[in-house]
This record gives sequence, structure tokens and C-alpha cells, in this order.
Amino acid sequence: MAEQARDDRFDHLFASTVRERLDGGGYGSSASPAAEDAVPLTYGFPYPESFPTAELVAATETVLEEEGADVLQYGGGEYVERLHDGLLAREHDRGIDATRDELIVTNGATYALDAIASTFLDPGDEVLVESPTFVWSLAVLDNRSAELTGVTLDEDGLDPDALEATLDAREAAGEATPKLLYTIPEFQNPTGATLTRERRERVLELAAEYDFLIVADDAYGELRFGGESPPPLAAMDDAGRVIRVGTVSKTIAPGVRTGWIVADEALADQIGTMAAGGTNTFTQSVLGRYFDAGHYQPTLERLLEGYETRRDAMLDALERHLPPGSSWTEPEGGFFLWVTLPEGVDAEDMLPLAAEEGVTYLPGERFFVGDGGRQPAAEPVDDRTGGKRSARLSFSHCTPEELDDGIAALARATEAYLE
Ligand SMILES: Cc1ncc(COP(=O)(O)O)c(C=O)c1O
Repeated sequence: MAEQARDDRFDHLFASTVRERLDGGGYGSSASPAAEDAVPLTYGFPYPESFPTAELVAATETVLEEEGADVLQYGGGEYVERLHDGLLAREHDRGIDATRDELIVTNGATYALDAIASTFLDPGDEVLVESPTFVWSLAVLDNRSAELTGVTLDEDGLDPDALEATLDAREAAGEATPKLLYTIPEFQNPTGATLTRERRERVLELAAEYDFLIVADDAYGELRFGGESPPPLAAMDDAGRVIRVGTVSKTIAPGVRTGWIVADEALADQIGTMAAGGTNTFTQSVLGRYFDAGHYQPTLERLLEGYETRRDAMLDALERHLPPGSSWTEPEGGFFLWVTLPEGVDAEDMLPLAAEEGVTYLPGERFFVGDGGRQPAAEPVDDRTGGKRSARLSFSHCTPEELDDGIAALARATEAYLE
């Protein structure tokens, strides 16, 4: 069937950032071949039974009964405050002594990042990001026409030597220091890597030395099922350089669209003014009640079991099915792992074949900063954390049985592709 031409009548009215990507390109493509029967290892979605539906129904009823008009009014009522208390208590448990003035509740982590980007970035400002990193965050930064530079990451997270080399090289060339470093220190999306304590210290030192802020996106930190947690960057920061972003998308449900920012008050004041349009205080009230009623921790414990079982099932399946020459990360939490397939595989090119065999995934190259921010990395690095041979596999959404089927299909596709 012939493809329909794009309707271009209004192209001249779009902003330049939109015009530049009208004919494709742009970060955030999660396009997979349509394959209804394939096991989707593509999306970082929670598994459907993870949602605390009964608890949310009860919390909704309570807030409507108790606070009726306030809950539905601009600004909300008492339960919004309860949510603030609940979030600050969780932060405190992670070693972060934030005050109410340092907390901004947002409509999710992505919204938080957008508010941060609009507070700090002029077009052309430099932002350092991990390479690879979460593509939707790249899209948010790209929307502000930021210049994005990738910094190498390995199993221990962002590489501070590479970070320092990048900063040095920019300084030597007389280029402006980046304003922001965007990092996902815990169970990174897409690799599952966690930044070590020693590396955290170095990154904080470099931020002070080169005068930039660190945006630490902690979407997965509470989902640890093994090993020791290094302290969050914000807990180690005594200079106010870490802007911490959190979300309940992975610990309650993405549909509630609630996240938060913790930042030094001088920064929080300004970020707060840029978070335009208000936030969803109805949902915040429901979550305030959810925290108050003590649902957060038991639900989290149930989810930890669910995700650990799935992570184990995927690791076990990789071990049993994948051909020699494959390797993968073994995250101690989160939603994802990063697989590198044998020499000769191009994961993007192989995707249609994989879909026919019964699995979809996100090819690794899509997570790299590229040419002007719009193409995959020009020369993907074919090592353990590299692009072309790699893929992000999500273990969060499918059942253990489906994960096994999906990895078996990935193995068949790899073998067929290499033939
Ligand atoms: C690192 C990271 N940050 C943010 C998000 C999105 O968070 P939210 O749903 O709160 O916008 C995700 C979800 O996939 C993520 O992986």
C-alpha cells in the first residue's frame, strides 16, 4: 500500500526545533515492527498486576469524602501536604534531609526535567549526558535546542575520567563549560548500571571544579533487589549542586503522573516559577492519602519480589538461549538490562527478523547522542556498552514465561541473522 504523504500545510508555522525533525529523526523513537504476537521487551512499563488498584480506589474515596471541595479546587487541601510529608520522609530514609522549600511536586519526572531544562537552558547551551542514556530525556533537552555531548558509561556508571577529559578538552578549546550534567545514577536506563560511591565523589568534585549542576534522575533507586545501595548523589552533596528528580511511576503507577524535584532552595525557587500550568493536585491528594494510610512500603515490597523474579527469569533465559559471543549486564534492580550480541549483528537491522521470530526490543544505537542530536551515534562503539550490536531489554512488563519465550526468539533471530 502506498504511504500517504505528510500534510505540510502548516509547516511554516512550526517552531524551528519542530521543523527540523518533520521528516523523521529526533530522539525518542520507540518504533518497533508491528508484531502482535511478539514478546515486547521494548517498553519500560510496569507489569499490569503491579498496580495497587484497590489501595488507590480506597484512597480516592477517602479524599473525596473527607475533603470534597478542597481536593477538586486549585491548590488542593490537606492531603496534598500529606504527600509532601510522605515524599520528604522517603527522601530522609535515603539520607536526604530536604525541607519543604526544597521540594517541588511535579506531573512526573519528565515534567520535572522539562521544568529544569527551561530554568537553566538557553538554545545552544551545553549539557553532558551519559552515553547511552534514556532517549526521552534526550528529547526533552533537545526540545530546548541544547547541545548534547555524550560521556562514556560502563558497568560502574558514568566514567569520571571520561567526564574530566571532556571538560578539560572543552576548556582547552575555549568552549563554554556545560551548565548541566544529566545522569541516571541508579539502575540506569538503558544499561541497568549503578554509579559506584567512588565515582559519585569524583563527579561531585568535578561539578564544583568546573561549575556545573548535576541533574540526578532517580527513577529506579527504590527498586533494588540485591547488593548495597551507594548513597544518592544528593546525600553526598554539601554544595547544593545536585538537582534530584524522583517519580512514583515505577513504585506506584505511571498513570498517576506524579514526580518531584529536590534542589537547593535558591534553585528550587526558580524551578518552581518555570513549572507552568500547575500540577495535578487531585492525584496528589489521592497519593497523600495513599502514603498516610501506609500503602507505599507494602506495595513496594510486593513489587520488589515481582521485578526480582522477572530479572532472574531473564538472566536465566539469556544464559540458556543466547549464542556464544553474547554478553549482558546483571543489574541489581530497576527495569532493564543491556545485551550485546555476537560480532556481526546490527540490532537495528535485525529487528524485523526478531519480530518475525517473536520478540521486539529497543536497538542500542537509539540511546546514543548523535550528529546534531538527531542521528544515532556516527561510530557506535562495539564494546560491552556499545551501540550497534546492543539492545535494551526490559524485564519489567512481561511474565517470566513470556520473558523466556522472548529470549529464545532473540536467540533464534540472532542465529538466523548471522547465517
Ligand atoms: C530514567 C527515567 N527517567 C524518567 C522516566 C519517566 O518518568 P515519569 O513517568 O515520571 O515521567 C523514566 C521512565 O521510563 C526513566 O526511565
